[in-house]
Amino acid sequence: MYAVIGGSGLSQLPEFEILRRQVQRTPYGEPSGALLIGRLAGQEVVFLARHGYGHTLAPHEINYRANLWALNELGIDGIVSVASVGGIRADLGPGTLVIPDQIIDYTHGRALTFFEGDEVAVQHIDFTWPYDDGLRKQLIQAADAVGESVVQGGCYACTQGPRLETAAEVKRLARDGSDIVGMTGMPEAVLARELELPYAHLALVVNHAAGTGDSQQAISHAQIAKTVQDGMGRVMAIVKSLVQLDQQ
Ligand code: HPA
Repeated sequence: MYAVIGGSGLSQLPEFEILRRQVQRTPYGEPSGALLIGRLAGQEVVFLARHGYGHTLAPHEINYRANLWALNELGIDGIVSVASVGGIRADLGPGTLVIPDQIIDYTHGRALTFFEGDEVAVQHIDFTWPYDDGLRKQLIQAADAVGESVVQGGCYACTQGPRLETAAEVKRLARDGSDIVGMTGMPEAVLARELELPYAHLALVVNHAAGTGDSQQAISHAQIAKTVQDGMGRVMAIVKSLVQLDQQ
């Protein structure tokens, strides 16, 4: 069974038939909301809205540890993390779908590991390739099967938010080698790795990053809203295709 973590713009899965809602308590507190267990394209899927079902949690307020722990308790096979991002590279404009293969973490002050506390031995897990290659390839295949082109690979920069970046910060991200920028990929990805859960991002570019392209002067929220609306149907088609491929 796959888990889908929905981000801004995907706080519910259309066509998803909810069979039950599970309130999962964890040693780390409460997840963003109840886990929704249901069927998509005939397959069992669990869905969690990262920002809460009323979109009330800012990126730094999300209890990533509780979310990952709760999903892991259900015995899932992998996590598709849907994310809206800004495009840093000029060719990654609004509407582009990206399946990144690298991450740079610029966040601070977030609870970022399960391996801490008096009773737990420290572990320095390998994170050379932060995403699960098998799941990335399946997502690429799933996109192909429904005629969606996706950019294969790229570096996801995770900023602290909730504000968007300055133009100078985006220049620095570009110099660092980042291609897209979001606010929630970390510590989500590393916590999945600590639990040995396959994890991949399906990122929808919803704006040119600050100071680039048509965001030279400002980022237009109206444009973001429109791109999200147009893009999430395509994201859904890929997720549906993924669970269907898994069935075969
Ligand atoms: N920066 C950070 N996070 C984002 C952006 C952005 O430009 N767009 C959507 N999420």
